[in-house]
Amino acid sequence: MAAEVDDFSDHSFEREIECKDGILRIKQAEVGDESCVVWDAALVLAKYLQAEHFCSKDRLENKQVIELGAGTGVVGLMAASCGAHVCCTDLPEVVPLIELNRTINQHMITGTFMANSLKWGQDVSTFQPSPDLILVADCIYYEESLEPLVSTLCDLSGANTTVLISYEERTTGSKPLLEKKFHQFVREHFTVEKIPQEQQDPVYHSPDIHLLKLKEKLNNRFPERMAMCWANKEKQHVSYAMKLNLRFVAPQGNHICIQRLEGQ
Ligand SMILES: C[S@@+](CC[C@H](N)C(=O)[O-])C[C@H]1O[C@@H](n2cnc3c(N)ncnc32)[C@H](O)[C@@H]1O
Repeated sequence: MAAEVDDFSDHSFEREIECKDGILRIKQAEVGDESCVVWDAALVLAKYLQAEHFCSKDRLENKQVIELGAGTGVVGLMAASCGAHVCCTDLPEVVPLIELNRTINQHMITGTFMANSLKWGQDVSTFQPSPDLILVADCIYYEESLEPLVSTLCDLSGANTTVLISYEERTTGSKPLLEKKFHQFVREHFTVEKIPQEQQDPVYHSPDIHLLKLKEKLNNRFPERMAMCWANKEKQHVSYAMKLNLRFVAPQGNHICIQRLEGQ
């Protein structure tokens, strides 16, 4: 259910974030957990979406975008203000704050925007087909949900999906180990490219905030996916093969005959 502005009015404060065509006004709650404020890593990612380096190659207009662990929804709203079709997700109890920020910033949205609950590790079939872009800001934070987060990234990603992840490097407690584990998990399934600071927003960047670009490795879970194809109808063999940029040739006896497309 969408939140009413009054639900947050007594204990909230607003943050203004400049973007190309105006200002995003993001409501944050004074009391609550990590979801209720805009984190610095979110600002770095949101601003990167309007940085010269990103815009010169990746236009957001009409792109399908999913944000995970969106919190206030600032990153998704920035994408929607650039013309993307955005689905912002977080735990169910956080969705009202995202809805509230959508309402406040409706006039800035030139694409479309919706908020939905998605707990990492859960079934993502209602979020299919795979989006063009997945956005994740400062979610490498929870020991217990690190693997579910990576598994959701895998489940949502297709051959043409780019994942942009920002996170703050933390040096206390178990956080350095968490960051290390994240890199281990993610590199099993994705290629990882670090976006250098000089390609980020000239103001909104910091040495302790990292920005990564991930692409799913083509062979990721290949046997598993092809086994699923085999269990389905021929039509679906073709669509799965296309998703993996493979040419489906024909079933031959008990085998599926496929051919990798040029350049893959
Ligand atoms: C540190 S906050 C970052 C919020 C926002 N992305 C930002 O940077 O401003 C982490 C977010 O992850 C969400 N989160 C935590 N565990 C989650 C889970 N298991 N599934 C989905 N979201 C989760 C929290 O609700 C919170 O909004």
